[in-house]
Amino acid sequence: MIIAIDGPAASGKGTIARRLAKHYGFSHLDTGLLYRAVAKAVLDAGDKLDDRARVIEAALAVDPTQFDEAQLKTHAVGEAASIVAAIPDVRAALFNFQQEFAAAERGAVLDGRDIGTVICPHADVKIFVTASPEERARRRTIELRALGQDAREADVLADILRRDERDRSRAVAPLHPAADAHVLDTTKLDIEGAVAAAIAQVERVRTR
Ligand code: C5P
Repeated sequence: MIIAIDGPAASGKGTIARRLAKHYGFSHLDTGLLYRAVAKAVLDAGDKLDDRARVIEAALAVDPTQFDEAQLKTHAVGEAASIVAAIPDVRAALFNFQQEFAAAERGAVLDGRDIGTVICPHADVKIFVTASPEERARRRTIELRALGQDAREADVLADILRRDERDRSRAVAPLHPAADAHVLDTTKLDIEGAVAAAIAQVERVRTR
């Protein structure tokens, strides 16, 4: 079984995907880490994010076995990731790895922006997780502060709105729910409520 979880930044999709994978004993891939790793490699080398040849080279060299999640999950790397993610050749370079991961025998949960639309259009379950920008900014600010990073909620909200706009308006694999996705709005749900709603959706499909 393949479960595709998509949605905008800080919607809760990552936690939901992790918890679903644990619940069903499936493998889990946070595909945002791939784009983050590309961006970080370029920044670390002192290269520019608009140097397309360099960015594509970094995408081809990405090694998911070497990911340091704490270093990739910073605010700055997330911003940079959304810039490199708009380059079609970067997405193409990361495509096979994601599809192969989805073919895992035990079942797989992938979360990102284009899993239900591009990477796994035939996923058994597709959930598009969303929440109001204000609620997402509130959650992301708490997360960043817990990681010891300096964060003002107004700045985080501005960044979220900018990132949403960039992810939704890009020409290739823009963020939008697949036609057959179940939309899960987590604005008024705590994490337990959101996970329960996601499991209920998987069960609806399994018993169909
Ligand atoms: O989900 P996360 O915040 O880690 O993603 C960082 C950025 O990577 C997103 O803003 C988006 O531009 C890009 N991304 C993507 N497609 C995915 C996952 C992430 O374009 N499947």
